[in-house]
Amino acid sequence: MGYFLISPVRNFSHKPEAILGPYLKPGMKGVDYGSAMGYFSLPMAKLVGEDGMVYCIDIQPKMLHKLNDRAVKQGLSGIIRPVLVKEGESLGFLNGLIDFVLLFAVAHEVDDQPKLFAELAAMMKTGAVLLFAEPAGHVKPAEFSQSVQLALQAGLVKAGDPQISRSMSVLLRKDEAPFL
Ligand SMILES: C[S@@+](CC[C@H](N)C(=O)[O-])C[C@H]1O[C@@H](n2cnc3c(N)ncnc32)[C@H](O)[C@@H]1O
Repeated sequence: MGYFLISPVRNFSHKPEAILGPYLKPGMKGVDYGSAMGYFSLPMAKLVGEDGMVYCIDIQPKMLHKLNDRAVKQGLSGIIRPVLVKEGESLGFLNGLIDFVLLFAVAHEVDDQPKLFAELAAMMKTGAVLLFAEPAGHVKPAEFSQSVQLALQAGLVKAGDPQISRSMSVLLRKDEAPFL
């Protein structure tokens, strides 16, 4: 599955630079949550450049090892930080640091989605955005809507409807906390 995800054929439907370019600028800190071998992580690293950082989070050590090898080969290892997590483990060290989160074809694999979206919202700076996409066909529209509801309950707001081939997707933003 990991090799399938980084196959060049995927580039016909998912062009990383076109999908991510509107959100990532040099110097930013990004998270690729459920990065696998880094189909999106390496282009993210190129977009944020040497002054930025991409945290690549996954539960499978093998995926992260392969991602690390690929980053070394492409001269991007200084910008890629692989992070191995256990299901449900907290990533508090990233809280409030992140400008952009990618959650692509991952949420349907996660047991505790309310916790996932709470974790991602906590990582994000005010004004940061999360691009959330799920594979159309594999995930039902009702399941996707349910996941989006969980993201809204975690405090994110809808900020756009990006069109991504063969996917259901939404852009979510972390706004200022309302004054109480
Ligand atoms: C279908 S792949 C998608 C990979 C990548 N986002 C892409 O689009 O190429 C899903 C990845 O999410 C990871 N994953 C599943 N549950 C996870 C969790 N709870 N926390 C972190 N990663 C997880 C899997 O190990 C796998 O590498």
